[in-house]
Amino acid sequence: GGRPVHPETQPVKSRFITFEGIDGAGKSSQIDAVVSLLRAQGRVVEQSREPGGTALGERLRELLLHEAMHLETEAMLMFAARREHLAARIEPALAAGHWVVCDRFSDATFAYQVGGRGLARDKFEALEAWVHPGLQPDLTLLFDLPPEIAAARVAATGAAPDRFEREQRDFFERVRAAYLERARLDPARFCIVDATRSPASIRADIEGVETELSALMGSRWNWRLSHVYLDAENKTDGTMLDNR
Ligand code: TMP
Repeated sequence: GGRPVHPETQPVKSRFITFEGIDGAGKSSQIDAVVSLLRAQGRVVEQSREPGGTALGERLRELLLHEAMHLETEAMLMFAARREHLAARIEPALAAGHWVVCDRFSDATFAYQVGGRGLARDKFEALEAWVHPGLQPDLTLLFDLPPEIAAARVAATGAAPDRFEREQRDFFERVRAAYLERARLDPARFCIVDATRSPASIRADIEGVETELSALMGSRWNWRLSHVYLDAENKTDGTMLDNR
């Protein structure tokens, strides 16, 4: 929008930001930093994760990560937890003009249940249209890296792997490809981060994203970043991402 916006008088528009990537991409360690920076700039930020984010959602998470189940049960439980999360936290926060920063959302179901598990795409689309018609994140940071690097990171934590982390490399190849396809379908929403780099290097870029984001009050994002690219075939430094 061309109209000047005055921060003192104009209510800050809510923003919905999600982080995505295969297990071991290193996104979780970056989320806290982004949330801290946003809060330091006076934003009211709701930080959450999926599956989870509510008392019921966290119980569903325990089942999803540890109990064997049919792949369609898994997909529907992901969306059941999401329905609860939207109703109890995401929708009220956005309605109040707050920012929501979430570790995973529906792109993860597309990547893991459609890409990884092979669930029919139209079943996913039906669930998405049922649970959050018309709502998508404003910005999705997709941490992209080869599964073998991610698997080594997961193994290095020494923690017992969950149902998803126990999957093999070909599963994560499909998950990664599905994420990249999802990004290709909505390039204005996605920012693909080269997650092979060190946490410190990624963090510098992520802080750049945040600084630019928080400076924006109008209808357009405009940010310039190095090492962030729109699609896997086009890894140019300094890509200008013009979001809407
Ligand atoms: P997390 O470890 O990043 O918190 O995510 C938990 C696991 O759940 C992760 O392996 C990805 C998986 N997952 C899905 O398979 N589908 C989904 O819709 C979501 C939100 C997560």
